[in-house]
Order: sequence, then C-alpha cells, then structure tokens
Amino acid sequence: MAGVGHARSLEAKRILLIVGGGIAVYKSLELVRRLRERGTVVRVVMTAAAKEFVTPLAFVSLANEKVYDDLFSATDEQEMGHIELSREADLIVVAPATAHLLARAARGLCDDLATTLLLATDKRVLYAPAMNVRMWLHPATQRNVATLHGDGAWFVGPNIGDMACGEYGPGRMSEPLEIAEAIETALMQGARLPPPDGLMPQGGALKGRHVVVTSGPTHEPIDPVRYIANRSSGRQGHAIAAAAARAGARVTLISGPVALFDPPGCEVVHIESARDMMTAVEAALPADIFIAAAAVADWRAAPAAEKIKKDQSGAPALSLIENPDILASVSRGSKRPRLVVGFAAETTDLIRHAQEKLVRKGCDLIVANDVSEGAGVFGGATNEAHLVSPAGVEDWPRLRKEDVAARLIARLAEMIGDERAP
Ligand code: C5P
Repeated sequence: MAGVGHARSLEAKRILLIVGGGIAVYKSLELVRRLRERGTVVRVVMTAAAKEFVTPLAFVSLANEKVYDDLFSATDEQEMGHIELSREADLIVVAPATAHLLARAARGLCDDLATTLLLATDKRVLYAPAMNVRMWLHPATQRNVATLHGDGAWFVGPNIGDMACGEYGPGRMSEPLEIAEAIETALMQGARLPPPDGLMPQGGALKGRHVVVTSGPTHEPIDPVRYIANRSSGRQGHAIAAAAARAGARVTLISGPVALFDPPGCEVVHIESARDMMTAVEAALPADIFIAAAAVADWRAAPAAEKIKKDQSGAPALSLIENPDILASVSRGSKRPRLVVGFAAETTDLIRHAQEKLVRKGCDLIVANDVSEGAGVFGGATNEAHLVSPAGVEDWPRLRKEDVAARLIARLAEMIGDERAP
C-alpha cells in the first residue's frame, strides 16, 4: 500500500477492536485514544492473555464503552449478543494480533469470544501483528497470514525494529497512527465482505483462467522529487481484480501508486510509471483476459537527474514525450488475450469517444464513465458505467464500484465461456 492523500473520515464509524495478549497492548490503548479523537465508536474485546497485560478497566476508561471478554456471559449475551457485536461494527481490527490469535483465526477455531467474533463476522478484518521476530518469520505464522489474506483479511505491519524481547527485525506492531490510517483506508475500500451470492459470479466461473488487470494512476517523474500524476484512486481496478479472483481466476494486478490494500487472492505488481506498467504487463502475459482499468499518463517528461532548482531564469519548460499505449499494444500484439477490455474516462461526448476507442485500440469491450466534475468517479465509491461493444451500448445504473466489478466479471465469464463452447 502506497500512501496518497485522501479526504477521509473516521467520524461515527464503529470499530470492533480485538485485543490479543502481547506487550504491544499499550499501543492499542493509544489507538483507542486516537480513534476516539476522530469521533470513532470503539468497542473492545479482550482475550484472556490480553488481560494479563492490562486490565479491562484501562480500555473502559479510554473507550468509554463496556469491554467484552466472555463468550459465556449470560449478562453480556442478553445485552448484546456476540453476533450483534460483530455485525454492528464497520470494521474489525485485531491489535495486537499475536501468533496464537492469527493461528486460531486461520484455522477457524472459536474457543473464546475474540475468535468466535472473527468467525461470525461478515466484515473484513484488519490485523496488526505483533510478535517476536522468529515467531513472525516462522513458516507456520507465514502460512497463517497467507491463509487469512486469501480469506480477505488485511494486514498493517509488522514494522521492523527493536523488539521488547531485545531482538531486532520484523515483528513490532505498527504505531497507533499507522493503524488509524490503515483503518481509514480499509473503510474507504469497503470493509464489508462481498455477499456469497447475488450479483457475484458463482465460484469457479473463471477457474483455470489468467486475468491481468491494470489499476490506479501512473507517476511520471519530472526530477527525483516531482512527478506528473492524475486523480485515479484505483478503487475500480482493484475491485475488478478482487472480483476476478473470487470467480476463481489467477489474477495478476499491476497497480500504480494507490492508497489501497492489495486485494486478496491476487498477485500484485507495484509499479510507478507507464513504462514500468508496460513492462509488467508484458511479463504477465499470456492471459485469457486483459482489463486495462488504469489511468495511464499519456505523456511523460524526460526526467532531470537532479532536482530542478528554482532560480532567476523563471519557470522551466516541460517538454513531454508520448507514453506507450499499453491497451493498444496488448490488443494488437502477438500475445493478445482472448478478451481485451479498456476503460474510457471522458468529460464530454462519452459514448462517441468510447466507440472510437473500441475501434482504435482493438478492444472487445470498453467500460465508459463520465469523469466530469460532479460525477464523483475519481476516488468515489460508485460508478455509472456504460458497456460499449461492437454489439451496441448498455447503460448500467449507478452502482458501487464492487458491484460494477462483479457485473463486469460475470459478463466476461459469460463471454469467454461462450467462446469455448463447441
Ligand atoms: O486513450 P485513453 O487514455 O483515453 O484510453 C483509456 C484506456 O486505455 C484505458 O483502458 C487505459 O487503461 C488504457 N491506456 C493504456 N495505456 C496508455 C493510455 C491508456 O493502457 N498509455
């Protein structure tokens, strides 16, 4: 995840904070303070081990809420059942996520309130691991992390540094402000797990297929500190990659700099410039489907080796060079995937431009959307897409980007399925 500024808010959001038993628990107290400062409602659940490090009273005082710790408490269950506790949250955060807690969650064990909530939830879970460096690097822990990631969990940290146990390496829990920022990102990305059915293509619709997706903006350097960029957030492209993975495809996501978590189940290649994106796409081929959702910069500057100094001679002239057109080159190349999908972001004459693009770039499908001011596509949660193909234009209603992604993947699965039919 690369940091790019976003206007975000944690106000009135509900976080269920599950606290595991590690020395990093003191940072979780600080996290509660930071979240409360931002107007967030924090409900705390402690494991038995967590209570060996701090008392529930410390969390009660900071969260100004009751702290839950007992799966079998008749009073708690009557006041707020454990299912409700997990359902009413916007996001579940586990901090510190100890090796043991990760192992239990990865296995789906539910022998206390914390793990029962993790199993009963329909929300994504953000884990902030904290443990000794050897425990973190142990293949068993890495397996558990990979399992949880594959199930849709997100991770912040651990950081590398000196540890309470006197060792040095990865295992330090992220700092409270880093976790708060990751919570904002997770909420922005849509913290609810996709429904098991509905619009979603049923598991396996793209099984055995390789899907390559580009997403986000590109950064084109002007000098070592400055770059040309655009307003793409990557939300649509990342949602498409996630939907393709859920449909059973092997997904390679080639992402420009975005403030998003890597979607679960995808191989993610992080790049900065259009030329890097081109190289990564070529390396990812062959594929069955290529979806170019990235807002690739059309031009780049010839970057200066040293920072351009502000001096008396006035503003420097920027001379721009055209970037490679990744979509056109994949679509016309010798390794052309069976289906090639482009995006058209336009502020005027949307459909006409999309139809021209379909022909000019040799795509099978163009997803067109209006990015004029007020349409709210850049960085927003929804998108009003028009599907432009040689067969005509299909107008979709305004949908959440996740739903646009699910519909698009369902459509592509249908198209590629038909091609295969005798
Ligand atoms: O030409 P224009 O940028 O409007 O086309 C948009 C479509 O082409 C998008 O699918 C985008 O990902 C892709 N594109 C590309 N490489 C470029 C420019 C655009 O793949 N250099």
